[in-house]
Amino acid sequence: TNPSHHAWKKAHTFTASYYHHLLLNTVEGEEALAYLKARGITEEIIKKFQIGWSLPRWDGLTNVLKQREFDLDNMEKCGLIIRKDQGDSFFDRFRGRIMFPICDDKGQVIAFSGRILHDSTEDAKYMNSPETDLFKKNEVLYNLHQARVAIRMKKQVVVAEGFMDIIAFHRAGVENAVGTMGTALTQQHVTHLKRLTNELLFCFDGDKAGMEAARKALEATQNDRQLKRSVIVLPDQADPDDFLSVKGPEELQQFVAEKGLSEMSFYMLYHRKGLNLKQDSDVLHYTNQLLELIAKRASPIEQSLYVKQLAEDTNLELEVLQQQLRKLLASRA
Ligand code: UTP
Ligand code: MN
Ligand code: MN
Ligand code: MN
Ligand code: MN
Repeated sequence: TNPSHHAWKKAHTFTASYYHHLLLNTVEGEEALAYLKARGITEEIIKKFQIGWSLPRWDGLTNVLKQREFDLDNMEKCGLIIRKDQGDSFFDRFRGRIMFPICDDKGQVIAFSGRILHDSTEDAKYMNSPETDLFKKNEVLYNLHQARVAIRMKKQVVVAEGFMDIIAFHRAGVENAVGTMGTALTQQHVTHLKRLTNELLFCFDGDKAGMEAARKALEATQNDRQLKRSVIVLPDQADPDDFLSVKGPEELQQFVAEKGLSEMSFYMLYHRKGLNLKQDSDVLHYTNQLLELIAKRASPIEQSLYVKQLAEDTNLELEVLQQQLRKLLASRA
């Protein structure tokens, strides 16, 4: 293994505690601390997730790393600092951002994501460390190391999108939650999770992007017979953190416990979006799409269940739908 990885890990551990200290104990961190508190984040949570603050300066971390005698060339390679065009000097990658340490499954900090304080169209809301040998965004799940025990105990993992969503779940007592950090669910993510449980509950944002993420996650896992998957769709475009702010912890916990949709129920909702089932053309469109999906279901019991549901949705006669389904099945065979 690469000997510089040891220094990378040491530097990330150090940098996380440096950012964390700036947020909790300094005047420079006060505005960020107030921002987090306004979003319902207590000091206890800040400590649990080791949230931090990066100074809005070019040489905050760079100077400190230099003082601590970290090799700056090596620090550039692991993404903490950036080289000034071809020169021998460096500047901070993260400036004036709320810092979320990202850990591997052993709890070693391997990367950061930093959130701007004031939402704007100019800057990306979250800025992430670059990919390195240690940090591969499509392998890492946020909070996996802390959620591991709860995932095993509850025999289920809640998969959400964002940092604040995972923290929201934690605040609601849902500790078996991990985050994809806005990327698609990958085979590597699934492999990690399957060591802990075979039951995945997707709870992405309730907006269009989140619905797409859920559809893709279902598709990515559809051939894995061992997995049980379901989907939570939050109302009013909310993400789990929005939902918590509006409805409170009990309702979020209850929603997750009770509102999981089966794959097919999710697809029904997904394909119904934007349609008016009082209109013939929309009914036809919806019915055709759903019957195609239902025909793909292996089990006749599931087929019968969902055709019934479809009949209720559309007010079409069950007989007719069953006939159409048989036709589809025959054409496939
Ligand atoms: P969202 O846009 O839903 O942000 O992105 P959020 O998590 O709700 O953020 P808050 O609540 O406004 O703070 C979901 C996730 O996608 C990744 C982050 O991991 C984020 O949490 N993301 C988003 C990025 O990596 N970069 C971005 O610019 C935006
Ligand atoms: Mn989103
Ligand atoms: Mn969101
Ligand atoms: Mn959010
Ligand atoms: Mn938001």
